[in-house]
Amino acid sequence: MNDSFSVRQFHPDDIKQVVSINQRCLPENYPDQFFMGLHYHAPKAFLVAEYEEEIIGYIMCRIERGISGFGRMPVKKGHIVSVAVLQTLRHKGFGKALITAGMEGMMGYGATEFFLEVRKTNEEAIGVYEKLGYSVRRVLRGYYRDGEDAYLMVKKEEVIQEEGATDE
Ligand SMILES: CC(C)(COP(=O)(O)OP(=O)(O)OC[C@H]1O[C@@H](n2cnc3c(N)ncnc32)[C@H](O)[C@@H]1OP(=O)(O)O)[C@@H](O)C(=O)NCCC(=O)NCCS
Repeated sequence: MNDSFSVRQFHPDDIKQVVSINQRCLPENYPDQFFMGLHYHAPKAFLVAEYEEEIIGYIMCRIERGISGFGRMPVKKGHIVSVAVLQTLRHKGFGKALITAGMEGMMGYGATEFFLEVRKTNEEAIGVYEKLGYSVRRVLRGYYRDGEDAYLMVKKEEVIQEEGATDE
């Protein structure tokens, strides 16, 4: 990864840059309080990416309790609410780094699986999520305000077993 690139936790002073990136990259925009609310809810899973000392991307997430999408037990799920990287800096691995760090942040709150909604036509983001191990679980008809369908994509936490460890 490039030396000029890093990922760190969002700080309230970053709000203007993050809102600006959200507005430039996505049709789903929110008031400042929505971003701040997610920061207070799960600060370890609201991250910004910096490149050459400028904020160029962000990911914000929510921890939700529910029934596992992979079994029947109650679990904590990590919801990727929004993620974006400035257009001119895409395809450099920055999005993947942000999403991976966001999932680590969510695991810090006990999330054992992850999910997100993505526009059916957003092939680029779907491709990135698939690379990261997400798969389409179902179609959410008319999910977006303009009537477009979403894919619900899900991923289970990968338990990395230490060498020599057993399941017992
Ligand atoms: C989704 C987004 C954050 C990805 O950011 P990015 O920095 O371009 O992603 P990366 O460069 O880290 O790509 C990650 C992986 O996906 C792959 N990938 C990238 N673009 C792809 C495409 N169009 N099709 C298939 N795979 C793709 C890359 O090859 C990379 O895999 P690799 O590391 O093995 O090479 C970015 O496209 C974006 O901001 N889009 C607009 C906002 C948006 O749609 N957000 C998601 C809403 S749900």
